Amino acid sequence: MPITKRSTLTQYLIEERRRYPGADGEFNSLVLDVALACKAISNAVAQGELAGLHGDYVEATTDTSSTNIQGETQKKLDVLSNDYFIRTNEWSGTLAGMASEEMEHPYQIPSQYPRGKYLLVFDPLDGSSNIDVNVSVGSIFSILRCTGTQNADVKEADFLQPGSKQVAAGYALYGPTTMLILTVGRGVVGFTLDPVLGEFMLTHEDIQIPADTQEFAINASNSRFWEPPIKRYIAECLAGKTGPREKEFNMRWIASMVAEAHRILIRGGVFMYPRDTKDPSKPGRLRLLYEANPIGFIIEQAGGRVSTGHEALLEVTPTSLHQRIGVVFGSANEVRRIESYHKAPRTEVFHSPLFGERGLFRE
Ligand code: F6P
Repeated sequence: MPITKRSTLTQYLIEERRRYPGADGEFNSLVLDVALACKAISNAVAQGELAGLHGDYVEATTDTSSTNIQGETQKKLDVLSNDYFIRTNEWSGTLAGMASEEMEHPYQIPSQYPRGKYLLVFDPLDGSSNIDVNVSVGSIFSILRCTGTQNADVKEADFLQPGSKQVAAGYALYGPTTMLILTVGRGVVGFTLDPVLGEFMLTHEDIQIPADTQEFAINASNSRFWEPPIKRYIAECLAGKTGPREKEFNMRWIASMVAEAHRILIRGGVFMYPRDTKDPSKPGRLRLLYEANPIGFIIEQAGGRVSTGHEALLEVTPTSLHQRIGVVFGSANEVRRIESYHKAPRTEVFHSPLFGERGLFRE
């Protein structure tokens, strides 16, 4: 399709801004700076080992692998991607501060730059355990308004806003093509990076998630730690046509949440990383502020649904920057069903031979 038939990300943002005559352009400038970080990361991911970018990040001073606040080994590309996000966004005067999966504390805008009204929260490279095996990874971001004192240093408390307060959210997916998915609270749009022009071109207008699905994603190796509602849901899916759902299901697990979210946006499905009993100190695997909330906002803006299983995820008030949470998202009817199983009295729980005394997954 000729370029004149497509919008660029810049054009899309300018046309959106015309709806808000009072808007000063700071928001657009922020999204374009985030998009620049994503283009730089896309390039680094594509260079991979050619640029010596695979493998763990080694601290120059100690010559040992470094870990982030989550205790996870940082990859070279985690550290580089975090740096790209900071460098492309700190100077513009649109931000009051930033927070990232890779930084224990909020990032203060250096004193030589002006400060603005937004907060940027990001996971610079989600699914990074997949980098060295060349599977799709992505960057996730969330934009909030800073309600703290203007021009003051940001505090952790400034970021602890429920997901429903997000002004915008998006992710870039570094797959066979690089895509940027964005919501500014009026539906979801998708852009594909034209590698020759270096521009994100609008390719997916008004993305809608089908309400029903026959595809689910979960890390089944955790099944013995799942709570009964999740055991019931999965058992019913696995029972297929002969079970209570009376239809066959298919399973996928990429272990790269941003890639699973993208599959669900494009063709439906349900993703679960629920709260479980594996490690009582971790109420779930995914992080609320920079993984669950932005993806949840996008999913709901595309007509899907997001939940912790127990409550509406976007209404949860965070208690710390790196808080983890159980997450279920995707096709609305399926997520509603899982929520209803969490509300159902225990007696209603479906007893599958899979979870019985001699079953595959013992209850
Ligand atoms: O940090 C989150 C993440 O990398 C997600 O992208 C992914 O869904 C999940 O962890 C994979 O978890 P597991 O290693 O348990 O499959």
